[in-house]
Amino acid sequence: MTSPSQGNATDFILGAVAYDQKVVAIWDGFQQYFRTRGWLFDYVLFSNYEHQVEAHLRGYVHVAWNSPLAWLQTERIAGRLGRRAQAISAPPHPRARWCMRDSNRDLRSVILVRLDGGIDTIASLRGKIVAVGARDSPQATLIPLNHLADHGLMPDRDFQVRAFDRLVGKHGDHIGGERDAVRALLRGETDAACILDANHLAFAREGSISPASTRILAQTGTYDHCNFTVLDGVQIGAGRPFLRAAIRDVVRRCRSAPASRSRRVEGVGARPSDWLHPALRGRRSIRRNRHVRHQHRDAMQVDLGSLTLAEGGYLLVKRAVRRVAPGEAIVVAGEADDLEVDLRAWCRVEGHRFDWQPVAGTARGQARILTGAAESERWADARRATGEGEAGEDTVAEHPPRSWGLAARGATIEAGTPEFDFHLTDKIEVWSDDAAHIYQQAVAAQWDPETAIPWNAPFELGADLEGAIVQVMTYLIENETAALIVPSRFIAQLHPHFREVMQVLAIQAADEARHIEVFTRRARLKRNELGRSTIGGQVSLKTLVEEPEFSIASFLLSVLGEGTFLSLLWFIERYAPDPVTATVARLAAQDEARHVAFGLAHLSQHLRREPGFRPRLADAVRRRHDALRHTAGLNDEVFDALLLMAAGSWEHDALRQGSRRLRQLIQDMDDGRRKRLVRLGFPEAEAAALSALHTRNFM
Ligand SMILES: [Fe+2]
Ligand SMILES: [Fe+2]
Repeated sequence: MTSPSQGNATDFILGAVAYDQKVVAIWDGFQQYFRTRGWLFDYVLFSNYEHQVEAHLRGYVHVAWNSPLAWLQTERIAGRLGRRAQAISAPPHPRARWCMRDSNRDLRSVILVRLDGGIDTIASLRGKIVAVGARDSPQATLIPLNHLADHGLMPDRDFQVRAFDRLVGKHGDHIGGERDAVRALLRGETDAACILDANHLAFAREGSISPASTRILAQTGTYDHCNFTVLDGVQIGAGRPFLRAAIRDVVRRCRSAPASRSRRVEGVGARPSDWLHPALRGRRSIRRNRHVRHQHRDAMQVDLGSLTLAEGGYLLVKRAVRRVAPGEAIVVAGEADDLEVDLRAWCRVEGHRFDWQPVAGTARGQARILTGAAESERWADARRATGEGEAGEDTVAEHPPRSWGLAARGATIEAGTPEFDFHLTDKIEVWSDDAAHIYQQAVAAQWDPETAIPWNAPFELGADLEGAIVQVMTYLIENETAALIVPSRFIAQLHPHFREVMQVLAIQAADEARHIEVFTRRARLKRNELGRSTIGGQVSLKTLVEEPEFSIASFLLSVLGEGTFLSLLWFIERYAPDPVTATVARLAAQDEARHVAFGLAHLSQHLRREPGFRPRLADAVRRRHDALRHTAGLNDEVFDALLLMAAGSWEHDALRQGSRRLRQLIQDMDDGRRKRLVRLGFPEAEAAALSALHTRNFM
């Protein structure tokens, strides 16, 4: 590994511990954030803090995102080496020496007991079993055990410690050990469990604990958690005045970025969301008048009564916070047992200052909350996932950024969301104004193979005719499979901003799945064995399946292939010797008509905006023809089967007629292709030439 001080294209490299897979997404987010501010930032992930501390001291990383223990280790070893470790500050903070994301400041741990456990005081834990998290977890083990020692109870002497040693080396950054400790307490295997205050609320909100099952016996004093640690004398990039300013920027502005270990406290860490606004607007009954009110000349008051935060109290507090400007205070009163602990933890995670005042002589207390700007800052750089247009209008963007990701069109997207690997991100490449309409039609026209087809209709064909039908079905299944794969492939590449196109492709794939089902069922209706599949047919379909460009694939598959299939399916419907074959062909043809319609609609729109694309379509037909020049195309078995089906018997006159009908089919197919090509703006002569080059395999 190259020491960053040797200089390279990266301005600074950060070390972090991968306590969870999401850590990659977290630092990718930071990377994006820094990049937008002109900083080339990279990160190295360690599996444990000990190696990270060592790498930091060896100069392999410029800055380390350290747990409290790792910070102490760095500080001590650095001191012995005559160096100085510092945590980057994020002013304005009274303790600016410690750089802390506010959500990492003033944490507390709590010691939880069962309501029916008979533990009323710390002293009554003597001789009992106390569950803790991983042995190197500050919040779930070291600090609470220290707290008990301060109160005269020495671990392993005065009480038994039961450690839930999950992921040692990660300093308790993983919530697993705490969760296991609480489970052991609830099962009655231990008498107490030590967890982070914020996890008390998190576990209550997810229903793991409740005021009816547990209570907080004690809480520790406050302590701080993770920080960005730097060592003195570190030069970053080309002698830049260092990242302190940049990191400060992050600490201040990305308070909600998921870097803090507190963020792992899912639930508590859940960010304020805009959905709350409309949700609350529409439901004024949420204790609005009784429990949230402005007091004249005073702070807004929220009275939670006996409602706990986990029971929804936090929603009332959150609503009140939103109604005041950052920096203004609100007062929250209540008498739920753990209100103080939960509210303090909630405020910390949400970025509000918190001050608790017990009400003398009652079980009640009240909190004065000085609201922070985290939420408004968090959404300051957000933007709506929509194209240019009037506010509130549902406009499709020409080039939706990949970072809009899966967000609904029109949603407000937090800055810094991860980029998705969508390939089809240009409207012109995929869009059709008709997509919504075609999708609606498709939804309305779905049919159930079980009931739509007379599977039990009595009929018996001769062995040869039945064999011909089985061969035709075998061929159809193969082609339907290609028709399923092509749209499915593009769904995964399509930017979901083009929602209607995604939906059209999805329902098209579902249509094809149904076609495969019914053709298979018809093939096996009277016999077990299917017909033949040839090299020529598969080679032809392979060129379709492998076409990388959406518009060209759409042209080859939908306009030419499925267009040709329309004629074929109506032909089968017309000359089918039995009602099952006729019905499956008819239902499939109806679906295919929509597939063709979408292909035509998309390409017409594409060509209107980019007429120069037309020669590329023509080229695609020629290329495919050249690629298939030496293959037979349609297999003889299919051709023969279609002839016999159209003839209906081996009689000479019947064969003659069948042959005439088949020639007419080929003519109809060609007419249809030419008509569609002309609709796409090809001159008659070119349309005729291109139609003639279409694959002999039909699809
Ligand atoms: Fe189909
Ligand atoms: Fe289709």
